[in-house]
Amino acid sequence: MTGPQIVLVGPMGVGKSTVGALLAERLGTAFRDTDADIVAAQGREIAEIFVDEGEPRFRELEREAVRTALAEHAGILALGGGAILDDSSRALLAPHPVVYLSMDVEEAVKRTGLNQARPLLSVNPRKQWRELMNARRHLYAEVARAVVATDDRTPEEVAQAVLDAL
Ligand code: S3P
Repeated sequence: MTGPQIVLVGPMGVGKSTVGALLAERLGTAFRDTDADIVAAQGREIAEIFVDEGEPRFRELEREAVRTALAEHAGILALGGGAILDDSSRALLAPHPVVYLSMDVEEAVKRTGLNQARPLLSVNPRKQWRELMNARRHLYAEVARAVVATDDRTPEEVAQAVLDAL
């Protein structure tokens, strides 16, 4: 199977980029992140795309970014937290070694707090996190070959757990 060596999915703030970069360093390969691909291609921050064109348009751009990265990238790939909402992206992920980095709601609130750069968490982070996790948990689990809980682990420990899990 060609494509990424490891694909990381999970909620925003769980550490996909930090852990992905650590894994890439350890395995001597490159790290790629669909959020960064979208920002580079659009020349705008994600929050600006949400405000200017709305979430549905962002999801279209994200679907395309996921498809391209899965086809092109052979290293470590991190997907945006909502990429698994898209049916066709989930189907494309099926043959790949996907790891779900998980955290519980309280940990998510603690890590992200009120973060304006993350447009889905603007008003009541705890309530929004609860709803987000309830809507998405099963989708992360559906695409993943392994789940790694990050709550009480450092990024280095999470990276090791990802390698152990595959
Ligand atoms: C989103 C997660 C973000 C980014 C956008 C929407 C989501 O990515 O794609 O703000 O729907 O959960 P990260 O998970 O990389 O923060």
